[in-house]
Amino acid sequence: MSTKLWDKGFEPDRMIEEYTVGQDRELDLRLARYDVEGSLAHIAMLEKIGLLTREELESLTAGLQQIAAQIKAGRFEIEPDVEDVHSEVELLLTRRLGDVGKKIHSGRSRNDQVLVDLKLFLRDELRQIADAVRRLFDRLQEQSERYREVLMPGYTHLQIAMPSSFGLWFGAYAETLVDDMRMLAAAWHIANQNPLGSAAGYGSSFPLDRTMTTRLMGFESLHYNVVAAQMSRGKSERAAAAAIAAVAATVGRMAMDLCLFMSQNFGFVSLPDELTTGSSIMPHKKNPDVFEIMRGRCNRLQALPNEIALLTTNLPVGYHRDLQLMKDILFPAIDEIKRTLRMGDFMLAHLKVNEHILDDRKYDYLFTVEDVNRLVLQGVPFREAYRQVGMAVQRGEYRPTREVHHTHEGSIGNLCTDEIRRKMERVMEEFDTPGI
Ligand code: ARG
Repeated sequence: MSTKLWDKGFEPDRMIEEYTVGQDRELDLRLARYDVEGSLAHIAMLEKIGLLTREELESLTAGLQQIAAQIKAGRFEIEPDVEDVHSEVELLLTRRLGDVGKKIHSGRSRNDQVLVDLKLFLRDELRQIADAVRRLFDRLQEQSERYREVLMPGYTHLQIAMPSSFGLWFGAYAETLVDDMRMLAAAWHIANQNPLGSAAGYGSSFPLDRTMTTRLMGFESLHYNVVAAQMSRGKSERAAAAAIAAVAATVGRMAMDLCLFMSQNFGFVSLPDELTTGSSIMPHKKNPDVFEIMRGRCNRLQALPNEIALLTTNLPVGYHRDLQLMKDILFPAIDEIKRTLRMGDFMLAHLKVNEHILDDRKYDYLFTVEDVNRLVLQGVPFREAYRQVGMAVQRGEYRPTREVHHTHEGSIGNLCTDEIRRKMERVMEEFDTPGI
């Protein structure tokens, strides 16, 4: 029996086969459970519209459930001469059930299947990424509260500027993640639409019940227009990539700060020895390699939307095999961001903060604005107060009062941690949107 779904009595050239299948035999394994889920919904619908009998539905359902169990147990593989996961599932079913296995493809195309698989996959993965972002957010907020009183220098132009605090620094990355979460939620909504029924991209002459499959797979909505459904391949991935890149930009920047803060010239934070790495020649070294690798990985992840844009640019309407290559780019990136978020959370939990940074006289000028403002509150006009303090600095006579009293929202003395958490919670409610 040929293993090709499109067998027409000739065998394709081996080299062509290898070149076109590419990494699918391996990457498609991640889609297997979704492929079965899509097929279960499809056959239930086929029975309802009269294309399968009750008995056929029952035996196909049992067959698919058996395959689902095999996938879950890690005993599913795509055989060497089978093209992709869609072919493998149908082949297994046909081997086990005979001709009835061949009936599941009525009104459907692999273009359709891979779309469904990817939507279900992305929906799950984006949710997992969102949960990992949430854990990092919680950790940042926890550290922000823990070190709310610990001052650190704030910089502009990398020059000493005004007092900041670890409360503000940790809290800043937490709040930035709220915006990234919005992008994840948007990508999740885009993925959460049912494309099944678009078949090869132009629908089917069978009276498919697409609303039924939408409900069965718990999709929020449908991609109604079958052409739009096909075009969503690439678009959904692009939205997911943009969200992943947004998260990576935040985490990468945080990693950069920490590389800088760990330098002896800053000495703001340190790590327990076991979380640092050494040098083969310099015996004293305790390097922040984790944050450097994190920065590098995050920078690479920011190329992801571009890679996807280039892969899909100028593709006309309809299915094209180029789209298969999206998996090669996106799947490793999904693993990468999840791993990076986990590592970020772990490292922040162990980060040690220097509580006495500002005792060093070189940071005295951080307080000039505080002192100007103090004079203003005593009735001195701002320009005059600015000049007085400026002249003292100029003469080398400036001595800071070292008192900071910031009260407005989002400042050192009023971090608004609860408000920011509520903002995050509201964004995360998006992920609980019920289906149709
Ligand atoms: N591996 C293919 C992909 O990812 C599956 C769809 C194949 N469809 C086709 N018409 N050759 O796009």
